[in-house]
Amino acid sequence: MPSGEPDADAWRQRRTSFGSVAAGYAAHRPDYPPDAVAFLVGERSLRVLDLGAGTGLLTGVLLAAGHEVVAVDPAEPMLAELRVRYPEVTAQVGDAEALPLPDGSVDAAVAGQAAHWFDPEPAARQLRRVLRPGGVVGLVWNTRDEEVPWVGALGRALADEARGHEADRGVVEAFTRALDARVEHFRSGVVQRLSPQQVVAGIATRSYVAMMDDARRKEFLGEVRALLATHPDTRNRDLVDLPYRTDAYRLTTA
Ligand SMILES: C[S@@+](CC[C@H](N)C(=O)[O-])C[C@H]1O[C@@H](n2cnc3c(N)ncnc32)[C@H](O)[C@@H]1O
Repeated sequence: MPSGEPDADAWRQRRTSFGSVAAGYAAHRPDYPPDAVAFLVGERSLRVLDLGAGTGLLTGVLLAAGHEVVAVDPAEPMLAELRVRYPEVTAQVGDAEALPLPDGSVDAAVAGQAAHWFDPEPAARQLRRVLRPGGVVGLVWNTRDEEVPWVGALGRALADEARGHEADRGVVEAFTRALDARVEHFRSGVVQRLSPQQVVAGIATRSYVAMMDDARRKEFLGEVRALLATHPDTRNRDLVDLPYRTDAYRLTTA
């Protein structure tokens, strides 16, 4: 959201809310399928910027594929989790709009579940600056697969709060334009096997929940808990499979 718009303060508060849920985030959010990451950055070992790296869910997949990772995120508590898990990674506090990296210092830049928080024009200028010639920008989102009936019911329960959030073709288009890039899309998926309590804990890491006051958060998570306790596909289950669609967009700069 451009900084001059009336909701800019609420937007800023929401995008900086992740620090308050860092530990739960690392434990309860899904990571990314290796085929989507290979699509974004290829299989040759590269130096990759993980922008909006958070607790390192995408960082871990990049490291496992043999890449060197530089992680940047504005939320120090998220990076503290990342450093514990991946001490070999250089993790720096910073914003997409003011990257704390030298010119031409990375081969590729990726953002997992994060590019919708960036201001596309200034972020694209920064990405162009830090990328080596021919570098790619990879944007990837996991979205709950609501074609599965209980996940659809969960989506409807969250809809009012979550509206306008997450994967957004508009974000991809804005970055494609701002980077003057060519865009390619790859679809994959990932499944989390979780207890119903862990499903609720994962919902609690969403920015729109982190922003609620304590009473509203308790009520809201209580509704989610009640849904899982009564839906025929989840009631009395110790573990449930929570499926996600993964949409990966590779933006190749000229
Ligand atoms: C939903 S989390 C995703 C974290 C991680 N990439 C993952 O896949 O789990 C979004 C992250 O974007 C970060 N973020 C928000 N605004 C940002 C900005 N302007 N520049 C860089 N990162 C930002 C947040 O601090 C948060 O860690």
